[in-house]
Amino acid sequence: MLRFRRYRYYVFFAAIVVLLLYRVTQNSEQWESVSASIPLVKAPPKSSLERGFGLTNKQSRPASAKSETGFNSEDDEPRLHLKEKTGKEPEKVKIPNLKPTTGEDTVGKLDTPNAATTTNQSHVRVYDKEEAAKTTTAPLISIPDKNVGQGAKGVGGPPGKGAHGAPGAHKPKTQSATTTIHWEKFPEHFPVPKDEIIPLPTGKPKPILAIQYDFEKESAQAREERLDRLAKVKAEMVRGWNGYMTYAKGHDELSPVSKKFRNPFCGWAATLVDALDTLWIMGMKDEFEEALLVVEKIDFTTSEYRTEIPVFETTIRYLGGLVAAYDVSGGKAGGHDILLEKAIELAEILMDVFDTPNRMPVLYYNWKPAFAKLPKRAQAGVSVAELGSLAMEFTRLAQITKEDRYYDAVARITDAFYEWQERGTTIPGIFPERVDATGCNRTAALEIAAKEAEVEKLREAGQKAYDSQNAKNSKPGVEGSSQGKSVKGGQSRLGSRAVGTPNDDGTNKVKIEHNGEEMYAPSKKTISDENDVDQAATTVDDRDSTSVKPETKKKKDTCVPQGLTAGSWSANEQYSMGGSQDSTYEYFPKQWLLLGGLEPKYKTLHAKVTAAVKKWLLFRPMIPGDRDILFSAKINTRGSPEVDATTEWEVTHLTCFIGGMFGMGGKIFDVPEDVEIGKRLTDGCVWAYENTPSGIMPEGATVVPCAEVNNCHWNETLYWQYLDPLYETRLEQMADYQKQHKEWKSKKAQQAKMKGHKNLGATSGGATSDSLVDEKFGSSQGVTTQKTGSKSSRIQKRAPPAPPPSRGASTDSTRKSSQVATLEDALDINGGSDSVVASIGDNADQVPLTQEELDIEYPEPERPMSHEQYVESRIEAENLPPGFVSAHYHSYILRPEAIESVWYMYRITGDTTWQDKGWKMFNAIVSQTRTESGNSAIDNVLLPNSDKTDEMESFWLAETLKYFYLLYSDPSLISLDEWVLNTEAHPFKRPI
Ligand SMILES: *[C@@H]1O[C@H](CO)[C@@H](O)[C@H](O)[C@H]1NC(C)=O
Ligand SMILES: *[C@@H]1O[C@H](CO)[C@@H](O)[C@H](O)[C@H]1NC(C)=O
Repeated sequence: MLRFRRYRYYVFFAAIVVLLLYRVTQNSEQWESVSASIPLVKAPPKSSLERGFGLTNKQSRPASAKSETGFNSEDDEPRLHLKEKTGKEPEKVKIPNLKPTTGEDTVGKLDTPNAATTTNQSHVRVYDKEEAAKTTTAPLISIPDKNVGQGAKGVGGPPGKGAHGAPGAHKPKTQSATTTIHWEKFPEHFPVPKDEIIPLPTGKPKPILAIQYDFEKESAQAREERLDRLAKVKAEMVRGWNGYMTYAKGHDELSPVSKKFRNPFCGWAATLVDALDTLWIMGMKDEFEEALLVVEKIDFTTSEYRTEIPVFETTIRYLGGLVAAYDVSGGKAGGHDILLEKAIELAEILMDVFDTPNRMPVLYYNWKPAFAKLPKRAQAGVSVAELGSLAMEFTRLAQITKEDRYYDAVARITDAFYEWQERGTTIPGIFPERVDATGCNRTAALEIAAKEAEVEKLREAGQKAYDSQNAKNSKPGVEGSSQGKSVKGGQSRLGSRAVGTPNDDGTNKVKIEHNGEEMYAPSKKTISDENDVDQAATTVDDRDSTSVKPETKKKKDTCVPQGLTAGSWSANEQYSMGGSQDSTYEYFPKQWLLLGGLEPKYKTLHAKVTAAVKKWLLFRPMIPGDRDILFSAKINTRGSPEVDATTEWEVTHLTCFIGGMFGMGGKIFDVPEDVEIGKRLTDGCVWAYENTPSGIMPEGATVVPCAEVNNCHWNETLYWQYLDPLYETRLEQMADYQKQHKEWKSKKAQQAKMKGHKNLGATSGGATSDSLVDEKFGSSQGVTTQKTGSKSSRIQKRAPPAPPPSRGASTDSTRKSSQVATLEDALDINGGSDSVVASIGDNADQVPLTQEELDIEYPEPERPMSHEQYVESRIEAENLPPGFVSAHYHSYILRPEAIESVWYMYRITGDTTWQDKGWKMFNAIVSQTRTESGNSAIDNVLLPNSDKTDEMESFWLAETLKYFYLLYSDPSLISLDEWVLNTEAHPFKRPI
């Protein structure tokens, strides 16, 4: 769900225009992505839409490939790139180098918790029983120090959550379809040969270390409290479910304030499907059965609401929801076959998205037959989360159905990531937010095109030579049968080897005639199988392009095969664990569990990810009380992160899942440090909840990083400097002002003195021309000399006085200094500055003062805002809680990630303080979001009572309430040693 679809009008009209364009180009470029035949859209400025945190969408909220590529080629109705509002560039933080504060001996001194803010911490029970004694001193963890000073080009602006994609919020325009169109299955264009289908790993699942703490029997009192909390969580579920069933039954989402509904996810009852397993887990069996009657009627082959299926959202919510409901309700033995039937029905539709030359999926699938039947290619700017977060759902379905095809589909994506990680990314171990999944190397294609152009020149030259030779009746040229024909794109499939040697041209290839289209194939197998698939693709496609004459056809786009690479729309790459990236990383260890440890690639992927996150992203924030917490930042790089990386010290709700990821990964791969890191990451989000007026963490904020993770002390002065990026300028301004003001006072005094003189000899000055009449005062004044004329025009330029320096962060020093200059000029009656002298002439000294000059009111310089005033006004205007440098995305849309990690921490450590932390979060959330029929997203967590935005995402029932419930349930319910949860909190049965 793309937020920008709210701009349906633009898109609609744009689509019509493009559709026409498309029709025109279609004949010649039938299947190749339309973007290939239309000039590529330049890398769009980061859209404010994408950056928006207030977007309602799932964890990855991938901003959709579409909004990046501008044009969603083959798989969708052609659409124009939404005119994006240029997102405000994050402000640069200009602060002195952040140095370790003092020479204090810090060894072993990390974080003696401040009693005021960390009372909870003082009795933390660590995950390892034997470590219990160490509770007062948190273990040291090793994370490289962060270069957080100027050299690091820290960015203190909005976290700019890249695409955070898929906002589920708006209701797409309803089509006025008279006849219902249904999806149909067509033969695959690029089928995987039967014997190449990647099978599920076989063998006995490996023994895997326990994730859950070995819980002891609780006291009667503890049990009572726990059950009381449990009941309160369930009450929220009951109210929300009833609200949905009353006002939105069968639709995607309840609008919990207006008691209406919305259909952002194709209208297949997203909330209902998403909530099935929660109903079961909470023992709401009647409601579960009632819901199944709705499930039965869902028709996944059509949608009244969307022309394309958002593959990621559909997979994690619907497919994951159905499969998990099947699993938790007992699988085959449970007798709810409809769940599996529906899962398969949906999966079969989704399988078509993998039918591309390189088998990378199209992530926005235009399901209508007219489009679905065309060959398609994955896109060049997909979000890494959308690409990598299909694995668990298809894997579990493959396990249940014993259909390797489902596993093959996602295993190929994993293999692609694995290969890419091995080949190397800019920040080794992790992947950039935008991925080119086309499988085509544009750089290589361009090189080849350039070489071909050269070859063509040579050929023409050769032809001339040949012609003249021919006249002398010598041997025919080597060009043979292809002579005179233009070099076709197909030829370039040979790669530079052939093309680079013009003499071989045409001799090394076999010409293929295909429905009038001329192509060249290599005579030897010089290229990869993948390329052959691609070639086949072209061939298949050519069936449809019969009307095209090769001669008029534009040169075909060349596809030089490659693996996954950074999205090609911008040189800037972003790396973070947040929206658009998150769940791909989350799925590596989870897939490893789901496959019973039988596929080692996932372990490697995870190990390299955590190493990179530790090295590059993790930082400890400087916060009041020095609580020992961690966050994961976002890095922007243009390819050399060691020197060009800029870091956004962001705190985003979506990133909060990684506490759980580190914790669980640390347990199963036996890396105690990661468990420790997981705790601090989770506690970071808890801190963010605890320190806002609403008790809820904002969607996206920034904080101040500490240079050293184990030596980090609150420093208010430094904090204020971060809050005021123009801190230094402001100090200069103030100094300037003080100087100006002093001068102003003395000039003022001087003017008063001169005025006295002038009044004595008013008209005695030598007038040289009566023709120049001062506009302002007219001739009556009788003081209209040429010189005074010129002078007065200067004066008029000066007057009215320059505006005062603007306030706030945008104050720029040029403006300030021009004001200063004007002022000083104006006062410099004796021609002190060169320019004044020059324009007045050599006799400047003798020019008499004009009346208007004497009458001018020299404005008192305006006092600029001081650093202190600025910071205070910012804190007040933005309601910034101490420690936060910004909180530009201050909504809360009922997201689960923070409580998710808190739940993991509780199940992993057995430490009941996590339950207490969770309880505070629960109460804050419920009190802020509760409505009569459910719970609503809110607009501003920085207010004690925010407006509600009338949205209840399906993940509220599917995830958030489920995690709260499982935090207070018996820990054996959905034990992490038996289940593994997808990114929508849908539990899949782990193999035993
Ligand atoms: C606090 O930060 C300021 C500004 O960077 C620095 O000058 C000062 O020394 C710091 N104070 C302490 C106690 O480290
Ligand atoms: C793409 O092609 C260029 C130029 O031939 C080459 O340098 C680069 O390594 C290729 N990229 C990939 C990912 O294969």
